[in-house]
Amino acid sequence: MDIIRLGVVGTGIIVKAMLAAVERVDGIKAVAACSRSEERGRGLGLEKVYTSLEEMLKDDGIDAVYIAVPNLLHYSRAKQVLTSGKHCLLEKPFCVRLDEAEELIRIAKEKNLLLMETIPPAYGPNIRYLNNALSEIGRIRLVMSNFSQYSSRYDLLKKGELPYIFDPNYGGGSLMDINYYNVYLNAFLFGRPETVLYHPNMMNGIDTSGVLTLRYPDFVSTNAGAKDTSGENYFFIEGEQGYLKVIDGTDSIPEVKLVTKNREERFNRQNEELRMDGEVSFFVNTLNSNDYSEAYRMLEVTKDAVWITQKARKYAGILFPGD
Ligand SMILES: NC(=O)c1ccc[n+]([C@@H]2O[C@H](COP(=O)([O-])OP(=O)(O)OC[C@H]3O[C@@H](n4cnc5c(N)ncnc54)[C@H](OP(=O)(O)O)[C@@H]3O)[C@@H](O)[C@H]2O)c1
Repeated sequence: MDIIRLGVVGTGIIVKAMLAAVERVDGIKAVAACSRSEERGRGLGLEKVYTSLEEMLKDDGIDAVYIAVPNLLHYSRAKQVLTSGKHCLLEKPFCVRLDEAEELIRIAKEKNLLLMETIPPAYGPNIRYLNNALSEIGRIRLVMSNFSQYSSRYDLLKKGELPYIFDPNYGGGSLMDINYYNVYLNAFLFGRPETVLYHPNMMNGIDTSGVLTLRYPDFVSTNAGAKDTSGENYFFIEGEQGYLKVIDGTDSIPEVKLVTKNREERFNRQNEELRMDGEVSFFVNTLNSNDYSEAYRMLEVTKDAVWITQKARKYAGILFPGD
């Protein structure tokens, strides 16, 4: 493929960050925006604007579509994109239910299309360092993480508004938003746990923060996520021979510290300001290589992450439309 021509769906903050990343990466160009409002669509400054996804998908001048709409709409929008024969970049959290995730993956494979969950830490070097360094710390016994970031949208919630990011009708809440990064990292490093518990702080039926406990055969992993407090963010993995610490939040894994009896080192090969470029480069390189095996393998991690959130919600009684 010469230059991958990208359409984007949604006009929120993350779309603007994605467009900046696409601009910096060779081999891909954003050509069209899809918004419910022509004005907001035009605001993104791309060549073409659509107010209907159906219309955008008829455009032969678009090869791939990036979807950044509220969580509960991910599945239906991605299904439309894949069914139309276009490649798809789908924002995190991929889907709110496992059967929906499996269906999207099945369609992508059947049609030989590239489908990816966009979640920046998954495509950077630091997560691979972390994964490889697990062998240095011996038998893992404890995992503890915290990702707490006071959200301006929490203030809106307290004032009686209902931003999408919190709205259960759109698959919102702390687990699906901020704690999803911790969920994803657990899934990436350890796969599916044996049991999943979620103890949320609820406000008007919305989990604004909470603690997720994952029991693996040999260790327990506790993961706090909050949109109603701020904290020091970290992801700690303690083994019998040492420990690993992600310094700061798991939305990017900015730096990893390894401490064993014999050595101590810090690792970082990422540039925080370019945090989304890795996933865009991965998308371009994978499409050009015609070998989607690694991307499809990563969708297995995504499936485990979706499975964890679905179990956690069920345990806590957090229901979304369609559950
Ligand atoms: N990867 C990351 O690090 C990261 C970071 C932040 C967010 N995200 C994810 O990206 C997605 C969007 O987040 P955001 O913060 O950009 O959200 P947002 O600011 O609330 O924007 C949501 C966008 O969805 C579009 N949309 C389309 N159909 C909609 C509908 N029926 N109802 C409401 N909105 C609709 C809206 O665009 P129009 O109004 O123009 O149609 C709106 O711009 C979420 O799934 C979130 O989890 C990922």
